[in-house]
Amino acid sequence: MHPLWLLFMEEVQWLKAMLRRELEVRPPMSDKKEAKLLAGNCVILHDRGEIVGYAEMRKVGKHTEISTVLVDPSQRNKGVGKELILKAVESIENDKILCCTKNPAMAKVLQNLDFKSIGWPGLSTATMLTFNTFARLFSMVIRFEFRRIWQQGKGIHKYERYELTK
Ligand SMILES: CC(C)(COP(=O)(O)OP(=O)(O)OC[C@H]1O[C@@H](n2cnc3c(N)ncnc32)[C@H](O)[C@@H]1OP(=O)(O)O)[C@@H](O)C(=O)NCCC(=O)NCCS
Repeated sequence: MHPLWLLFMEEVQWLKAMLRRELEVRPPMSDKKEAKLLAGNCVILHDRGEIVGYAEMRKVGKHTEISTVLVDPSQRNKGVGKELILKAVESIENDKILCCTKNPAMAKVLQNLDFKSIGWPGLSTATMLTFNTFARLFSMVIRFEFRRIWQQGKGIHKYERYELTK
């Protein structure tokens, strides 16, 4: 097997382990689907050759949303989350960037980078966010991820939408 492929599979396994551990984010999917996401629209940070941070980006209505922000537990509170979001912001061409969270550390990272808490994100973005919420719920149900559903559902009113206008 090619050494680069092995390295890539290590990243897939890291991502799946992080997704399994963190109940505030989406559930892990198959190796093939995670590999596709890692090779697609995301930002990744390394430290001494090891993956330490990951975030996904996708178009949601008029916004580009940064989601599934993950930092290795051994590397938290050292600025990796901030670096990840900065890298994502730099790579996004859209002038409206959105991030939804109820995680206090994530909220702090966003506030430090001048993201503003917003109420109504506009009809097209709100519609897509609602659609994505139901799609995520469905994906959790078919994976029997009931702890994750409970964890995300019980604090649903605490989610805040943060926007950055470039
Ligand atoms: C959220 C997360 C990505 C942050 O990554 P990180 O590398 O620790 O972030 P940084 O080190 O850049 O910054 C963390 C900031 O939050 C602050 N912070 C940490 N814990 C906090 C808490 N409980 N309450 C408030 N602020 C907190 C830190 O002091 C720091 O702010 P400062 O730079 O002003 O001192 C990381 O904790 C993580 O992967 N969490 C699990 C997955 C998750 O919930 N992701 C968010 C989904 S949207």
